Amino acid sequence: RLKAISDAIRVIPHFPKHGIMFQDITTLLLNPKAFKDVIDIFVERYRHMDISVVAGVEARGFMFGPSIALAIGAKFVPLRKSGKLPGKVISESYALEYGTDCLEMHVGAIQPVERAIVIDDIVATGGTLSAGIRLLERVQAEVVECACVVGVTGFKGESKLKGKPLFILVEPREV
Ligand code: PRP
Ligand code: MG
Repeated sequence: RLKAISDAIRVIPHFPKHGIMFQDITTLLLNPKAFKDVIDIFVERYRHMDISVVAGVEARGFMFGPSIALAIGAKFVPLRKSGKLPGKVISESYALEYGTDCLEMHVGAIQPVERAIVIDDIVATGGTLSAGIRLLERVQAEVVECACVVGVTGFKGESKLKGKPLFILVEPREV
């Protein structure tokens, strides 16, 4: 299953700029078998872990999180880029290569002690996931694990994830 998942991800060299091997998961979404396998693997892993919150990171975490949440009977909580959520929010900024960005979450979406996973398509530096973890911890949720479709095994940014486990399905592809 993992080989087929990896093969379904298209690599676009030098996007959005020179030197970046862009891991394009839109081709995975075009492949119903591989897409379903991704969701099934996450569901198998999390269905018996007493998870009540799947927090997905805008935008590409939104492509995987809701299906997992529905299948395991959890709520889906969107972590959005700044200025998009209409209600009262809490915010956490994180470093980009140049400058910073910010994720926001609605106050009241999660109750203290709820068990959560944070889902995204890809982990690179870990900055995005770290902001997600901080948002959840500010409302006393327990972040059980972070989950991504693509990531490097033995991820160097693990310290950024505050010791939270990182579950990834496949490594980034070269071509
Ligand atoms: C990409 C990707 C992850 C993040 C990974 O999102 O979808 O969310 O970068 O990088 P990091 O581990 O170094 O933080 P991006 O911010 O490009 O936006 P998008 O998901 O809205 O396309
Ligand atoms: Mg993203």
